[in-house]
Amino acid sequence: MSDNLTLPAQQGSTGTSTEALLKVEGLTKHFPIYGGFPIKRKVGAVQAVDNVDLTVGVGESVGLVGESGCGKSTTGRLVTRLLEPTGGRIEYAGHDITHAKRKQLAPIRSEIQMIFQDPYSSLNPRQTVGTIIKSPMEVNGINPAGGREKKVRELLELVGLNPEHYNRFPHEFSGGQRQRIGVARALALNPKLIVADEPVSALDVSIQAQVVNLLQKVQEEMGIAFLFIAHDLAVVRHFSQRVAVMYLGKVVEVGDRDSIYNRPRHPYTHALLSAVPEVAMDDEAENRERIRLAGDVPSPISPPSGCRFRTRCWKAQDKCATEEPPLVQISGNRDGHLTACHFPEEPTTEARDEDVVLDPALKALEDSAEKE
Ligand SMILES: Nc1ncnc2c1ncn2[C@@H]1O[C@H](COP(=O)(O)OP(=O)(O)OP(=O)(O)O)[C@@H](O)[C@H]1O
Ligand code: SF4
Ligand SMILES: [Mg+2]
Repeated sequence: MSDNLTLPAQQGSTGTSTEALLKVEGLTKHFPIYGGFPIKRKVGAVQAVDNVDLTVGVGESVGLVGESGCGKSTTGRLVTRLLEPTGGRIEYAGHDITHAKRKQLAPIRSEIQMIFQDPYSSLNPRQTVGTIIKSPMEVNGINPAGGREKKVRELLELVGLNPEHYNRFPHEFSGGQRQRIGVARALALNPKLIVADEPVSALDVSIQAQVVNLLQKVQEEMGIAFLFIAHDLAVVRHFSQRVAVMYLGKVVEVGDRDSIYNRPRHPYTHALLSAVPEVAMDDEAENRERIRLAGDVPSPISPPSGCRFRTRCWKAQDKCATEEPPLVQISGNRDGHLTACHFPEEPTTEARDEDVVLDPALKALEDSAEKE
């Protein structure tokens, strides 16, 4: 890899592009488990991420969804190279960065930023907001026109905070405001890709909507690509042009937003979509098909053979235990909609009811959109 990376041109306000900014193939992360006494040796591995393919186009937002422990954060940390992959390939802007060393990664460190779930622990309580947002510029030796402080004040304004609060400390802000500070810090280096790991799940429902709206504004107006990690399909639906569904370390279904929400084929995606929280209950919701997944997610130390979802799948047959279903475009799927299942659900002929995934966050999002 060369030390100087040249990026493809950014997209305009539409934000989508078929040009891949991030391309991940066969990405794998197995965390070794050591045991034995007195000599410790490897006795197993947590198969956190296994053979994942994923692309994020220039300016595109891709949602990564699945239950707790399915490997979403590990995937995010692998693509930002905070973790070293066990296998596979990560390409960024056409450059193989899979095992790039620190020095080789330096030019792209500023282009790929992360926003974390917890706005409390991700900000240093002893630093002022100005110092927190300014520090990525200092570390990377970036001197914007007009100076760093001016840039920080502009960023504060951009994320909806008062530029006069430059000298305040994180504890003086609410959770939603702190997450805005996290967004401003991520934007300080004009990134091309932001990996947002559950950026709103620690926030109050009404505040979630505001932060998602802010991120959407950033994505659309600045043409920044997003890998938006969430366990909640509702929030991702509002934000992402494409969605990938993960189960036990694998992507089991991926496609454009409408295909995933209106014509899901994988039983697990059906189950996620049918999980309507109590608050959305109404007469109509009562009549909808509800799928309650039996049992817990199996351990990623010894995942089931064949299809990893088979121990909870109501359609499982013998073949599911012996043959792993490939992630492919099955008959009836639109272009780019891939499903890993031997016995997929029939494609629905009518569009899925918009409200089927309504949950408190989405409701708040829709309410706030109506007010605007
Ligand atoms: N450093 C580590 N060492 C060992 N196992 C790990 C490590 N980090 C993650 N894991 C395991 O890898 C699996 C995937 O974890 P990960 O944090 O990626 O899941 P997640 O989908 O982000 O879950 P959540 O929704 O709870 O954040 C889990 O079983 C987790 O316990
Ligand atoms: S491959 Fe078999 S077990 Fe897996 S999701 Fe499809 S039907 Fe269910
Ligand atoms: Mg996580």
